[in-house]
Amino acid sequence: MAGRPTGVWKYTGRLLKGKHDSLKNNDHSYLGPTIRVHKGQRVRIHFQNEIPDPSIIHWHGLHVPADMDGHPRYVIPRGETYVYEFAVRNRAGMYWYHPHPHGRTGHQVYGGLAGFFIVSDDVEKSIELPSDPYDIPLVIQDRIFDGNNQLSYPVQNMMERMTGLLGDRILVNGKPEYTLPVATRAYRLRLLNGSNSRVYKLAWEDGSPLVVIGSDGGLLENPVQKNYVMLGPAERIELWSDFSKYPVGSDPALVSLSFDAGTLNGAGMGRGMMGGSALLPNGYPFTVLKVRVDRKEKETLVLPQRLSTIERYQERDAVNSGSPRTFRLLLNHMNWTINGRTFRMEEVAEDEIVQLNTLEAWEFINEAGGMGMMGAMDMPHPIHIHGMQFQVLGRSGVRHRGYVDEGWKDTVLLMPGERVKLLVRFEDYPGLFLYHCHNLEHEDMGMMRNYYVRKT
Ligand code: C2O
Ligand code: CU
Ligand code: CU
Repeated sequence: MAGRPTGVWKYTGRLLKGKHDSLKNNDHSYLGPTIRVHKGQRVRIHFQNEIPDPSIIHWHGLHVPADMDGHPRYVIPRGETYVYEFAVRNRAGMYWYHPHPHGRTGHQVYGGLAGFFIVSDDVEKSIELPSDPYDIPLVIQDRIFDGNNQLSYPVQNMMERMTGLLGDRILVNGKPEYTLPVATRAYRLRLLNGSNSRVYKLAWEDGSPLVVIGSDGGLLENPVQKNYVMLGPAERIELWSDFSKYPVGSDPALVSLSFDAGTLNGAGMGRGMMGGSALLPNGYPFTVLKVRVDRKEKETLVLPQRLSTIERYQERDAVNSGSPRTFRLLLNHMNWTINGRTFRMEEVAEDEIVQLNTLEAWEFINEAGGMGMMGAMDMPHPIHIHGMQFQVLGRSGVRHRGYVDEGWKDTVLLMPGERVKLLVRFEDYPGLFLYHCHNLEHEDMGMMRNYYVRKT
C-alpha cells in the first residue's frame, strides 16, 4: 500500500536458551515470533511490557496452570515483566498467543499483538505430513486503514462494540492481497482466524473440497472433506492441500463465501452512522488469499487415512449427564452477556464452580431474535473456554454446515439460533479460569466470565 507504513504494536522475541528453531521472529510483519516446541518440553518466557497500556499474555489453547494462563488480573504496566514457566502438555497442534487485559484485548490484538505457538509430538512425527517449508501457518485478519494509511480502531460507541470490529482489508500474516507461492505438491496449510469479530466461510474458489486434517487441538482422527468451513474468531483448521493437479501458472484462490450472519452483521451500519464497517459486513464474499503455482516439484506424499487417535468422552461419564450446565448468550440492556452476567475480575457464581478431575456436559445457547433497541438482534458468538481442550457432543438449530466439530476444540462457533453441547474435563490445574466470547469487542464489553476449578 502507498504511504507511510502504519504504526503497529508487535511482540518481538529473543531466544535465551534452547533449540535455535524454537523461536523465529517474523521480521516483515507485525506478527509476533512463531514459537515451536515439542510436547513435554518446559518453557520459560519473560514477557516485558513496553506498550503504554497494561497487558498480559494468554497462551490460547494451552493447558497450563491458572497463574500461567494470562488472566486479566495478572496484567502488568509498561516497564514490568511477567515470567511464564510451564510444561507443554498439549498434543501436537497450532495454538496461539495474544494479550488478555480486560477491556483492552480487542484494541491490542488489533494493533498487532498475536503470534503462533506450534506444538509437535511423537504421534504427529510418526505419520508423513508435509513439513517445513511445506507446512505453513497462516493467520487471517481484517483491518481498517485511515486516510494516512494508519491502522485505526474505530470502536468507540456501544453500537460499534455490539457488532464488533469489521475491517475492510483482509490481511494474511499481516499482508494485504496475500499470495502464497507453491510447487505442484501437497502442503499442510494451518489457518487461524485471528480477526476480532469476522467469521469466514472458507472455500476454494474453483469448488475443490477443503481436505481438513486438523482443528484447534491438532490432528483429527481421519481427514474430512468439506465444501466450506465456517471459521469463527480464534478457531483453527489445518488443511491438506495438494496443488499437483494445477498447472504451473495457475492461481487458485481461497475465498470467503457469502452467508447470513444474523441481523447485526455490520450491514447498513456505516461508520459515522451507527458503527461497524459498511464496506465489508460480516457474511459478504471476498478473496482471502491467492495461491500461485509457480514450479513443478515431484513428491510422493499420500494423504494418510489415519491421522491420530482421539479417545471420545462419553456423555454418560459426565457428572451432570442428562442435565448440562447451560449458558445462554443474551443481549441484556444493549450489552452482550452470558446468562445475563458480565465479567467481574474475581467473581464466580455458584453455578460456575466445577470439581477438579470431573467430566462435565456444558451447553451454550445462542438465542436468535434477542431484542434490542432496533428490534431483533442476533449475531455469531465464538465461545472459548480457557484451560483445556473439549469435545463437541452435538449441535442443534444448525443453519450452516461446514463446522469441524470432530476433533479437539477450544473455541466453538455458534451462529444465531444454534446450540452446542460440549464435554469438558477439568484436570491437573485448580483455580480461576475464563470462558468468553472470542468476538474481542464482545469480550471487552464483558461477555466473559470466570469459572473456578475446585480441588476435590
Ligand atoms: Cu484467545 Cu481468552 O482467549
Ligand atoms: Cu484462550
Ligand atoms: Cu459474542
